Amino acid sequence: MDAITPIGPDPDFAELLAARPGLSLHAQDGLVLEDVPLSAIADALGTPCWVISAGTLRARYARLRAALGDDVAIHYAVKANDHLAVLRILGAEGAGADVVSGGEFARARQAGMAPGACVFSGVGKTREELETAIAAGIGQINVESAEELARIDAVAAALGLVARIALRVNPDVDAGTHAKITTGLAENKFGIAWQQAAGLYAHAAGLASLRPVGLAVHIGSQIGRMAPFRDAFARVAGLVRGLRAAGQSVDVVDCGGGLGITYRDETEADPAAFAGALRATLGDLGLHLAIEPGRWLVAPAGLLLTSVVLVKQATGPDGLGQRFVVLDAAMNDLVRPAMYDAWHGIVPLSASDAVGPCSLADVVGPVCESSDTFARSRALPALAPDARVAILDAGAYGSVMSSTYNARPLAAQALVDGARWTVIRPRQSIEALWATESVPNWI
Ligand code: LLP
Repeated sequence: MDAITPIGPDPDFAELLAARPGLSLHAQDGLVLEDVPLSAIADALGTPCWVISAGTLRARYARLRAALGDDVAIHYAVKANDHLAVLRILGAEGAGADVVSGGEFARARQAGMAPGACVFSGVGKTREELETAIAAGIGQINVESAEELARIDAVAAALGLVARIALRVNPDVDAGTHAKITTGLAENKFGIAWQQAAGLYAHAAGLASLRPVGLAVHIGSQIGRMAPFRDAFARVAGLVRGLRAAGQSVDVVDCGGGLGITYRDETEADPAAFAGALRATLGDLGLHLAIEPGRWLVAPAGLLLTSVVLVKQATGPDGLGQRFVVLDAAMNDLVRPAMYDAWHGIVPLSASDAVGPCSLADVVGPVCESSDTFARSRALPALAPDARVAILDAGAYGSVMSSTYNARPLAAQALVDGARWTVIRPRQSIEALWATESVPNWI
């Protein structure tokens, strides 16, 4: 599991780069993503800024597709990175979308994805969101509770339509990941207890405005080991057999997302092993299988470029002190270290910085919270003010989780594709921070 103060030696810069095919370090150009020197982007846009690699997105999608074969539908989990360009690239490769809000559904459609290629997940879909989704002909709604089942039936009936639904079951399997991103335990708010699924499925099949097509399961995120997936899928396979034995029609199983990546030294979920787990548990049931990966597809494709504001040498009571590298990026940009103790690689953009002698430093942002810390005791060279670094694997749950806390505008975003790059979102202006605010005239 990722942790901000993990056990064992960190990978060094060479090891981090060797494991990330889109990135390379050149004597002159420094850190290069695909064929674009990242310093060129930082020069043009300033920092902090996000950069996403179209080539890496396509390559990862192709790896997953090759391992799964053509029969398993891939519904990209839009929450991981909802930029229209990312959706357009993955849509062009053949992905549909897993959405969790009316906003994500609108984004997926705006990017050209067909409503029928979208699946709607989430424990609290509002009436308005359901109306829009059903009226547009969304492919499937994953139902999270008996209460929601009744609501979807009512909304569909009022529209005079029939909604295709799957029951999201909670398999009560421990995914072995960070507590804040575990979803498949009985104590979590997600899904229908698997013991109750058969009864509810039969009930749904009797309702005029619902068409139950199958089951869905998602046990958590950043999972590298196959055992929890296999346990969850096996439990779902048992349910499918039971439902069919009871005369129900079950055509679809949505196996969720959760495939983990290597941030530091975690084992990346291997697509071939994942496909093997699917086949071994659900492969002989003649089902239409689907998955909802987010992080695995997009995390390694994205970086956050940031500059050193200053290096603070603190002096402790013993005369020794900590080195704080203070960046111009902060927890409002990338919240994962503050929120999940997540470890992200940090690599200098300049080749001469990257080969300099290293000593330990805490890497922090300027926000007034101690949790605004990107790394503790990280081996880094002597970074002068204005030196730039890239925070790695920031393509998933990065820009989408940004806020403007401390009145910090949302950072610019750029897309790299081969030797080309372009801005895909300009830096938010300071004025935009209050552009929609008003002050009542009585104060
Ligand atoms: N399907 C459902 C129903 C989900 O809830 C999620 C993620 C996914 C698919 C995609 O999971 P992935 O393949 O990306 O692991 N912000 C956290 C991660 C939260 C994941 C929430 N649900 C982080 O930065 O680690």
